[in-house]
Amino acid sequence: MEKDVKILAIESSCDETAAAVVVNGRKVLSNVIASQIDIHTKFGGVVPEVASRKHIEAITPVVQEALSEANLTLNDIDAVGVTYGPGLVGALLVGVQYAKGLSYAISKPLIGVNHIEGHISANFIQYKDLKPPFVCLVVSGGHTFIVYMKDYGDFEVMGQTRDDAAGEAFDKVARAIGLGYPGGPKIDKISKQGNAEAITFPRANFHEKDCLDFSFSGIKSAVLNYLNKKKMKNEEVNEADVAASFQKAVVDVLVDNALKACEIKRVDRIAIAGGVASNSTLRTCMIEKGKEKGIDVLFPDTILCTDNAAMIGSAAYYEFLKKKNAPLELNAIPNLKLGQR
Ligand code: KG4
Ligand code: ZN
Repeated sequence: MEKDVKILAIESSCDETAAAVVVNGRKVLSNVIASQIDIHTKFGGVVPEVASRKHIEAITPVVQEALSEANLTLNDIDAVGVTYGPGLVGALLVGVQYAKGLSYAISKPLIGVNHIEGHISANFIQYKDLKPPFVCLVVSGGHTFIVYMKDYGDFEVMGQTRDDAAGEAFDKVARAIGLGYPGGPKIDKISKQGNAEAITFPRANFHEKDCLDFSFSGIKSAVLNYLNKKKMKNEEVNEADVAASFQKAVVDVLVDNALKACEIKRVDRIAIAGGVASNSTLRTCMIEKGKEKGIDVLFPDTILCTDNAAMIGSAAYYEFLKKKNAPLELNAIPNLKLGQR
């Protein structure tokens, strides 16, 4: 029997300092997340400079906690995985430099991981038997993609947003309604008291054949216009109705395109990933519509959807198997593309 591979993974691309220990890409021994949400909430969004400073403060205790929760020491670790992009450059650099130091100190391979690939890999932790190929809808605060994962580390981008990411639209609309940051979970919650049919917001459709791209800036502007008109007429706004109607407009487009991608690739299974994958309406609609078309819908637990290091440890494992170790010159790449090395 092959020896287990224990990877210590580090994630610091945005406002979460995270470390995890993952065995063979699938079994999570620890998954520690230090969130900075409370600090950034005061500013209504992530302040990059503040994020970097907080990562520096948090990274040592977070890594130590990940090791102690896993009941391991650095000597037991077989490789160090780290997110090196995409993300905020100053934030990424904290994790990258820390991981390089650890890898050098313990003389074990360093593995650079693409954050988006990490999000997709969260599904490998949730579904132990899941293997490529499959279609994945990646919906996070910075990215919206439909990808066909042909093999580990091998992706075909089938569709992407042409402007705002889905999570970004949630955050901006939440701010406009006065719900605060981060907007996604707040819109999700308040929508439960609202009527999703109350207001018709536009769904962007591109007319090119088989185009699976998205655009969310139009929906966002329509919400802002709606709110402004109400304000000018001195009419009351039902926040729950606005939130529910906006959410439904975003979810409809995500579900339609994602299921179209399955038809194009003739697959009967789709995985969802990224922070917005924890949205309750997205989950329910994907399952319902998927059922009608005979498509199985997979999504990770909420804790694995938003930024975490366990997903990075999973993606790192498959790079480790391919011996795709990073040099100690590894740098942060803020606009790293999916599949780029
Ligand atoms: O994947 P993630 O943690 O970070 C990025 O890589 O961007 O995603 C964060 C995004 C934020 O925009 C947040 O508002 C959104 O995910 N989000 C949600 C929900 N939970 C988090 N959006 C809609 N519904 C949710 N329940
Ligand atoms: Zn993310």
